[in-house]
Amino acid sequence: MTRTLDLEMKRALMERVRFYRELGIYDFYRREVPPELAATLSAALAAATHSVAAEADSSETYSSADQDLMTPRKKVVSAADLAAAPRIAYAEQGTSDAAQALRIIREDIGDCKRCRLSEGRTNIVFGVGNPKTDLMFIGEAPGADEDAKGEPFVGRAGQLLNNMIKAMGISREEIYIANIIKCRPPGNRPPESDECQTCSPFLMRQIASIKPKVIVALGATAAKTLLAMNSSMMEMRGRWYDFYPTGVQSDDPNWTGARLAVTYHPAYLLRDPRQKAEAWKDLQMVMTELGLTPPPKKAE
Ligand code: URA
Repeated sequence: MTRTLDLEMKRALMERVRFYRELGIYDFYRREVPPELAATLSAALAAATHSVAAEADSSETYSSADQDLMTPRKKVVSAADLAAAPRIAYAEQGTSDAAQALRIIREDIGDCKRCRLSEGRTNIVFGVGNPKTDLMFIGEAPGADEDAKGEPFVGRAGQLLNNMIKAMGISREEIYIANIIKCRPPGNRPPESDECQTCSPFLMRQIASIKPKVIVALGATAAKTLLAMNSSMMEMRGRWYDFYPTGVQSDDPNWTGARLAVTYHPAYLLRDPRQKAEAWKDLQMVMTELGLTPPPKKAE
């Protein structure tokens, strides 16, 4: 019970930090909270959006357009802007055709040079699969094979992911697969947080266009970025999260977001196959949610 509350609190705090960052506010000062006040913090967090709006009238803030330069500006975000929420209507929201929406997002990415990862990449790895799917798998970043082919999860980790998907009684073509980052980090190093921040808005738009029922975050980077929380895999696995893509408004008022589950990254499972049983538990949770039954075992 306490663990769940702690996680909710962490998640709410991280979400709040991300919200401020989207507004161009990067510096935070920690004030000690007396233990007897800790219980009221949740309620305070829930109300925080409104207080941010109120504060914008009286305090100095940054233009979100100038985030990179970090140039202080006087009150460029009005209370009304904030109250109207940081959700943006993008060009693809004029269409209800998810495939067309994805094409628009891909065009928007163009020959992207928004971050340093463009320097070493061969191909942008946008995402692949069925735009009308109920299920999305989201990994970390392309590796060498994916960079060469321009498609996510086509190397050894991809082969294992295909087997995991098959064990669920579905095929790779029925679902949609993408990564937090669309260009290969040099030497397959983990993506830096500024790279995730630069790239993930496109993924958020892809999610808002596909409108899946369920998202599976593969590994810690995907989970931490999507959930805006900084917890261990052990803490994050084995439960559902309500997920709505940050900063994007889906064109479908009937889509209230996806349920998100966290499991091990296939590359990690290749290194430590003993964890496959645990990953299978996560996938069974997903199958129950989607009403999927595993295919019958073939007779020997
Ligand atoms: N690992 C990932 O996270 N994504 C890929 O596309 C390939 C390997």
